[in-house]
Amino acid sequence: MFSRRTYIVGLLGSLAVGTLIYASLIYRSTLSPSVPDAAPETSFPSPSVPAPRGNLTAVDELFQRQSATLDEAIARYTLRNGRPPPPGYDRWFQFAQAGQCLIDDYDQLYDDFAPFHQLARLDQGYFKRMVERGIKIGTGPEYLGIRTFKMRNHQFDQTDPWPEDPGYVADWMVTIRNFSAWLPDMDLPISMRDECRVQVNVHDGRTAQDMLVAKDPLPFTNRPHPTYTYYAEEGHCLYPNSDRGFVDYANNYTAFLLYSTSQEFSTDLYPILSQGKISPCFSDIAFPSTYFYRRSQSSPKYSYPDNVAWADKEPMLYWRGRVAGGMVYGENYRSFPRFRLIDLARAHPGMMNVALTGWNTWCDGECDFGAIEREYGFESNWAPQEDVYKHKYAMDIDGHGWSGRFLALLTSGSLVFKSTLFTEYFSHWLRPFEHYIPVRPDLTDLPARLEWARTHDDEARRIAQAGKEVVERVITDAQNDCYFALVLLEWARLQQGGGKG
Ligand SMILES: *[C@@H]1O[C@H](CO)[C@@H](O)[C@H](O)[C@H]1NC(C)=O
Ligand SMILES: *[C@@H]1O[C@H](CO)[C@@H](O)[C@H](O)[C@H]1NC(C)=O
Ligand SMILES: *[C@@H]1O[C@H](CO)[C@@H](O)[C@H](O)[C@H]1NC(C)=O
Repeated sequence: MFSRRTYIVGLLGSLAVGTLIYASLIYRSTLSPSVPDAAPETSFPSPSVPAPRGNLTAVDELFQRQSATLDEAIARYTLRNGRPPPPGYDRWFQFAQAGQCLIDDYDQLYDDFAPFHQLARLDQGYFKRMVERGIKIGTGPEYLGIRTFKMRNHQFDQTDPWPEDPGYVADWMVTIRNFSAWLPDMDLPISMRDECRVQVNVHDGRTAQDMLVAKDPLPFTNRPHPTYTYYAEEGHCLYPNSDRGFVDYANNYTAFLLYSTSQEFSTDLYPILSQGKISPCFSDIAFPSTYFYRRSQSSPKYSYPDNVAWADKEPMLYWRGRVAGGMVYGENYRSFPRFRLIDLARAHPGMMNVALTGWNTWCDGECDFGAIEREYGFESNWAPQEDVYKHKYAMDIDGHGWSGRFLALLTSGSLVFKSTLFTEYFSHWLRPFEHYIPVRPDLTDLPARLEWARTHDDEARRIAQAGKEVVERVITDAQNDCYFALVLLEWARLQQGGGKG
């Protein structure tokens, strides 16, 4: 898959960049994406990154097509969802306009709430009942990674007794002040875990009627062995390895589905806010946790902006990170994506600069961590995350749950290659081949896609720029506030028994 020719090109560094641009110009001048150039036998999806139209970028156009008036926004919302927007939407609209937020593009949010609206049509009290149960669990005798809050008369307060806070709770208290003046009363359980919590696949053939009856005897407690067998047989989760053609499954290439370190989930459909989820196996409601805010201490932003010109970046894939995701048991770690990335780099020398740097996981049984570190060549020195700037290609790969680095990597000026099972609140805004290069969960297409980037340098750079533009102009802190506030309006309406429409 990886020809000797490109290996040599890679080694030639900046000289190679000229060659790549030249190759790319030849490619483009044919005006036919199906004409093969110097690329290898494999066929590649053609990039859909749009060429700038006039002086407008795709982001300019995205903003231009948003509703300009409240009436227009209400009409679009109603058409999209089959019901009018929730009470408070007029205030939200003003807030969104002031913050230069998107007005109409909230597909992820609407999708997340859809099953709850369906249940509300059968039983108007379902949402409220499940919120109350969730609050009871969150404030119960044992800490299960759920924090609870209440909004009363525009005052937002914590209602659980737990002291643990990696800064998230303190941030939420401040963030919600931006819009609490016009939020209705509600109660709110929020997950503190990186893992998803509501193990309900609403597309697996269960009926909504059946879902109304709570069955999980111990919701949000740790399952003893949620391993491959659990997901394949009980968990209603066989995750496709490819979204095209015949289905094979990614479960065996995924640390989370093989043996996650912590899976305190429920198999009843509780409403709970989470930072990410595997869709459709899980039905958490995604929201922009503080981790996604630039103003937050917890966000993985860079300490200075990209300072390496594209032409000076090495045409190599860069990744550094810890073993996170997957309880080590016997030799199962060899199947975890971060280990397979190291194996893949060794099988394709000269293409990837990747290394594991430590542990953030546990062992079930006996593990010789030292031997594993030697075998996989763990790196002990701690490289600054800005080292990614020196490389054209940046890898993003799942750990315990969603990889928190995606947004930061997209601002790095490098082209992001992303392999994930997880959906986050912004997933609809970042499109494969337009803003980043997707990689299958089993990583088998990674070398070919890297090869494509190396032989189509101009397109690679444009995709990197398009991704950077979306993150910098669309996914702002103000946009996060808009998303969060709309989640809470939808939530409050359902809790108050509305939302039948
Ligand atoms: C883009 O072009 C249009 C028409 O040529 C012009 O009116 C507008 O000011 C330009 N916008 C920017 C941001 O340059
Ligand atoms: C929202 O809250 C943050 C943190 O307090 C603040 O920096 C920001 O200006 C606020 N935004 C608005 C629109 O009030
Ligand atoms: C995944 O691994 C399990 C356990 O080793 C095995 O039984 C199963 O056949 C594998 N499934 C797939 C889809 O590869």
